[in-house]
Amino acid sequence: MRMKTAIIGYGKMGREIEQILRERGHEVALIIDLENTHELDAEHLKGVDVALEFTTPATAYDNLRRCIACGVPVVSGTTGWLARYEELKAYCQEQHGALFYASNYSLGVNLLFRISRRLAELVERSGAHYEVEIEEVHHTQKKDAPSGTAITLAEGIIEHLSQKQQWINFAPIFDVADYTERAPRTVGEEDLVIRSVREGMTPGIHTVRYESVDDALELKHTIKNRRTLAMGAVVAAEFLCGKEGIYTMDDLLQ
Ligand SMILES: NC(=O)c1ccc[n+]([C@@H]2O[C@H](COP(=O)([O-])OP(=O)(O)OC[C@H]3O[C@@H](n4cnc5c(N)ncnc54)[C@H](O)[C@@H]3O)[C@@H](O)[C@H]2O)c1
Repeated sequence: MRMKTAIIGYGKMGREIEQILRERGHEVALIIDLENTHELDAEHLKGVDVALEFTTPATAYDNLRRCIACGVPVVSGTTGWLARYEELKAYCQEQHGALFYASNYSLGVNLLFRISRRLAELVERSGAHYEVEIEEVHHTQKKDAPSGTAITLAEGIIEHLSQKQQWINFAPIFDVADYTERAPRTVGEEDLVIRSVREGMTPGIHTVRYESVDDALELKHTIKNRRTLAMGAVVAAEFLCGKEGIYTMDDLLQ
């Protein structure tokens, strides 16, 4: 089905999304960025099937709320506004609106989340002793560690593997030439180590590694470009179009 879409936030992601929407035969009817924020209203959103929001943590909540108020299903990609997620979900339900949120729209990463949870379940059931660790590698401009994706991976493992109670981060100091691992305290059996590495231009590599005395098993995902993230958001928009309710990548991948 050909969708009539709106893009809110015409930055790196907004531009990638526009290209993919057009490639897939959809109409881009409205693009909102700083110079025309006033156009995010019922008049301009009239007839729009779905909006995709990739802006900033400070602006996302209001933009998403405005889409819902205007009866437009909205795909949310902006990160860092989740303190108001529950509030927005409640508003969306009250308005019989439609909202899709994912902190990472790469289909591959979301498949990795599921496979990793399943693997943890199987390891738990097998009773075998494996030590598990997560490594995330990103470019040196990335200031935060660990990555949100690594945290989601860790939470999925902790949920299923009784030996692990919480994650602990080994973060590098940001001078790569003088790389030193640092952990906030001694690592115990119950800690799941997330190793953060910062090097070069790497857009994002996540590895889950299980190791016993006899063997080693790895799950690894490498992001090659931003296009995979934009593609995931567009597929989410196609999924959301015509629906009511609140959805995540788990619903899409069912
Ligand atoms: N969920 C995911 O998979 C995923 C992937 C990549 C990026 N992101 C997140 O998406 C967001 C955007 O990322 P980006 O790389 O495109 O950033 P960017 O800085 O390149 O683009 C953001 C754009 O939003 C515009 N903007 C700011 N306030 C606005 C407002 N009120 N209304 C409309 N537009 C406004 C800015 O002018 C800019 O053009 C970030 O929060 C980023 O973390 C999420």
